[in-house]
Amino acid sequence: MKLYHEMSKTELLEQKEFLLKKYKEFKDCHLDLNMARGKPAPAQLDMTMGMLDVLSSNSRLVDEDGIDCRNYGTLDGIPEAKKMMAAIMDVSPDQVIIYGNASLNIMYDTIARSMTHGVMGSNPWYKLGDAKFLCPVPGYDRHFAITEFFGIDMIPIPMTPTGPDMDLVEHYVNNDSSVKGIWCVPKYSNPSGVSYSDETVRRFAHLKPAATGFRIFWDNAYSVHHLYKEEDKQDKILNILEECEKAGNPDIVYEFASTSKITFSGAGVAAMATSKANIDFIEKQMTVQTIGHDKINQLRHARYFKDFDGIKVHMMKHADIMRPKFEAVLEILEEELGGWEIGTWSHPRGGYFISFDSMEGCAKEIVRLAKEAGVVMTGAGSTFPYGIDPKDSNIRIAPSYPTPDELRTAVSLFTVCVKLATVNKLLETK
Ligand SMILES: Cc1ncc(COP(=O)(O)O)c(C=O)c1O
Repeated sequence: MKLYHEMSKTELLEQKEFLLKKYKEFKDCHLDLNMARGKPAPAQLDMTMGMLDVLSSNSRLVDEDGIDCRNYGTLDGIPEAKKMMAAIMDVSPDQVIIYGNASLNIMYDTIARSMTHGVMGSNPWYKLGDAKFLCPVPGYDRHFAITEFFGIDMIPIPMTPTGPDMDLVEHYVNNDSSVKGIWCVPKYSNPSGVSYSDETVRRFAHLKPAATGFRIFWDNAYSVHHLYKEEDKQDKILNILEECEKAGNPDIVYEFASTSKITFSGAGVAAMATSKANIDFIEKQMTVQTIGHDKINQLRHARYFKDFDGIKVHMMKHADIMRPKFEAVLEILEEELGGWEIGTWSHPRGGYFISFDSMEGCAKEIVRLAKEAGVVMTGAGSTFPYGIDPKDSNIRIAPSYPTPDELRTAVSLFTVCVKLATVNKLLETK
């Protein structure tokens, strides 16, 4: 097989003609497919419908402490919900605060609070004028949107196969007092699928921040979202709270999680896990914000799953829906692009995304071509702060929502777009 890089101008023009024909065939199908956002498919949401029958007008809506869940109160969540979210995050229930339906909202709120009131005695970030956040890339666009919204400068940190480049993280955190935090998705990362190695977690725990009030934003959104049932095919990460305690740094981390991709996205339960000192500080402000979150939903979740085994069984049903989709995408990428040396992609064992890297300078064009033929992808660049991918090469593929058949069509078109954009790029220099 002759690679595109090795072809003459005439050969590339022949390839272009061939690819344009294939591209037109897809266009003539008038596709309307979406691989942009990591939304659970309707079949996944259907799986949880039984949760709505757990409570009825005959139910005793009283929690383990005897509190009436219909009424005001219980600022930090009912004991059953704390146990559930603690099991998901592998922490202890007394390290957990239960919030509303979305973890993103907790992250936003935490940053907003730090801007206006500082972190446990530190200066409010807005007064500093130059607060900075480290942003492992490629990363989650909605994290970057929060820090951008508050005018916090974002510094990209390259991801490696074991997590963010820790030499760089240590360099910034330990020397620059304007660096106030870092976004992390430690397990089945969005979008790379990488899970942080034990060494990476320990190095995080041993950071010696120059800034008072520096915090690691440990977004453990995919802690139980495995694709495979076999334990040796499931990623495991160290418990960051425990490691931070051991390192004498108990307050350095906020961990976040939710049931958005376990039960109903938009109607789940979200939580933060952190040290006792952080909890005390946060709850003082929470009492001003709310009298308590939705305890009936918390009760519904806890009674539906009963215990952590209930969640594990449920997540394996999710895996049965997700796995064939991921495998369909990977199979077609391999069939169509394997050996061409025009792109690389991740092979995650969990989470919601596959990360694709094209030849430099091609990602925007690939996404544009796909869109023109009826397949919407996440915008190129969105996995980087400010939407700027300096190499214009990363594209996030979200296989969860379409059916496997739709995915096959969408990814086949995607591979044609990758080839076409690459050939066009190479022709620019011929
Ligand atoms: C890393 C990460 N964190 C958080 C979220 C959103 O979570 P929630 O629905 O709890 O706000 C997502 C959704 O895609 C995500 O990928």
